[in-house]
Amino acid sequence: MSSARGVVLLVICLLLLESHASDILNDAHVYRAFASYEVVPDVIDEAPDCWARASFKSGRQAEGGNRLTPTQIRNPPVVTWNSNERALYTLILTDPDVPSRDDPRFREFIHWAVGNIPGNDIDRGETLVEYLGAVTPRGTGLHRFVLLVFEHLQKLDFSAEPRISAQCGTVRRYFSTRNFTRKYELTNLYAGNFFQTQYDDYVNTLQAQLRECESEREFDWLVQ
Ligand SMILES: *[C@@H]1O[C@H](CO)[C@@H](O)[C@H](O)[C@H]1NC(C)=O
Repeated sequence: MSSARGVVLLVICLLLLESHASDILNDAHVYRAFASYEVVPDVIDEAPDCWARASFKSGRQAEGGNRLTPTQIRNPPVVTWNSNERALYTLILTDPDVPSRDDPRFREFIHWAVGNIPGNDIDRGETLVEYLGAVTPRGTGLHRFVLLVFEHLQKLDFSAEPRISAQCGTVRRYFSTRNFTRKYELTNLYAGNFFQTQYDDYVNTLQAQLRECESEREFDWLVQ
């Protein structure tokens, strides 16, 4: 009896240890992480209060600046945040480091945007920009990929916003998170996260897919 209790206690302790070990996304560290990777001020003026969780099919997740490969992030992540069922959310995933962090002259490149998400149900939101994985050119170093979730109480009218398909790349340049949030009065940055990625072979696959949409000339900047 007492040994059974001992086993139960041991299991509970192991579970607690486990949850502690995976507690990388502690909300107490959001501000520091966004500042130390200069997401504040390169993309936004102030960090969110909470982490959003973004898990990829590859089994990897965003952990405030960890490194993920283009292969690992080829599919859109499952994103969750502590949502209020009565609110709506607008999500963006943006790369400010185009063509590179040292020379961000095309800043930003928008990878994904979904508006008017009810609660946590991204599938029921309005997809403005379809998810595109990393097209980070070889030799351009690590790019920060920044995921931001804004909360709003009213439904926003995105009808004037261009819809961008997964096959298009060029039109994703010169996105400005600040301008976008100003335009739609997205003042409540509710949750966020970011990771870093750099070239691997999967980038070639994506670039080939994009060339079907763009003229080659327009695409020179990606190929370099
Ligand atoms: C953001 O808005 C400002 C002011 O309207 C404009 O000058 C600037 O070009 C915009 N930035 C981008 C990247 O669109």
